[in-house]
Amino acid sequence: MPVLKHDIELPASVPELLLEKHANFLLSYGTDKDEYMYCMTEHMRMSGMYWGLTALDLMGKLEQTNRNEVLEFIAQCQTESGGIAASLQHDPHILYTLSAVQILCIYNALDTIDIEKVVKYVKERQQPDGSFTGDIWGEIDMRFSFCAVATLSLLNRLDVIDVEKAVEFVMKCMNFDGGFGSKPGAESHAGMIYCSIGLLSITGNLHLVDADQLSWWLCERQLPSGGLNGRPEKLPDVCYSWWVLSALTILGRLHWVNKEQLVKFVLACQDTESGGFSDRPGDIADPFHTLFGLTALSLLNTDYPLKKINPTYCMPEYVIQRLHLKPARLD
Ligand code: FPP
Ligand code: ZN
Repeated sequence: MPVLKHDIELPASVPELLLEKHANFLLSYGTDKDEYMYCMTEHMRMSGMYWGLTALDLMGKLEQTNRNEVLEFIAQCQTESGGIAASLQHDPHILYTLSAVQILCIYNALDTIDIEKVVKYVKERQQPDGSFTGDIWGEIDMRFSFCAVATLSLLNRLDVIDVEKAVEFVMKCMNFDGGFGSKPGAESHAGMIYCSIGLLSITGNLHLVDADQLSWWLCERQLPSGGLNGRPEKLPDVCYSWWVLSALTILGRLHWVNKEQLVKFVLACQDTESGGFSDRPGDIADPFHTLFGLTALSLLNTDYPLKKINPTYCMPEYVIQRLHLKPARLD
């Protein structure tokens, strides 16, 4: 009989938070442009930069990054359509448009790109049913609804889309279990729940969800190891410490998870030699999981010297306050 493995064993001892190592890991990422993993991730470069820079800002290391080089790269990635691509000579996409705008907000440098053209690009993505396509080729996914609404709200231009229709589409993605999927009828997934709750938080529509039912589904993602998975029967993964915890924070029910055990799981995912976090203990570290390991520790109000992260935008709280944004949260 096959034995299903639903969780991992934590190592006997868990290291302390290795902030210096994580900062060095991220600061040196991409210094060798011929390195295999760096080349293999070119198609998502803009988001990779956003993950790394956000993590460095949380650790108080933003001034050690090459601001001018990043800004110049972003300006070069904006295409004629107004949308922003992941990398030079790539096609624009709403995922990378959001990442670029997030970086520009963090650097307080929105004037680097043509904002009116970004606004036009995002507006053009909305469909008659309220959903959004990711690019001109027409794929629809609720992630793109979040990206559109988050981008426009950071630019203070939500007025150009039909927000009511956008919310209507998101609510069609809600399932019987209280969770949300990528499109109507699709399985509930913690990443999609972050996107839907984020969008409802930005647009002031959190009253549309059953917070108790949804938070129950979310806190059931915690496994005996302390880690969280993204769907029932899946293994725990550090990035779900973000997708699940951010939504629970917005819903005012962060205390429904076992904080101590989750912190242990997150710390166990550090690479004690090269720095960075991986999805699970012993795997290879990357900037994506490094950001979400740190954001989890920030959301959990640990005593570590990390800046506060905003659960709706996944950006440092001081940046959201500087922009005078007030995404809603439940008590
Ligand atoms: C898991 O994906 C995560 C999601 C589906 C959510 C992605 C959300 C965005 C791209 C919006 C922007 C995000 C931020 C932080 C501002 P996966 O492919 O790893 O799922 P799997 O674990 O099921 O494979
Ligand atoms: Zn992951």
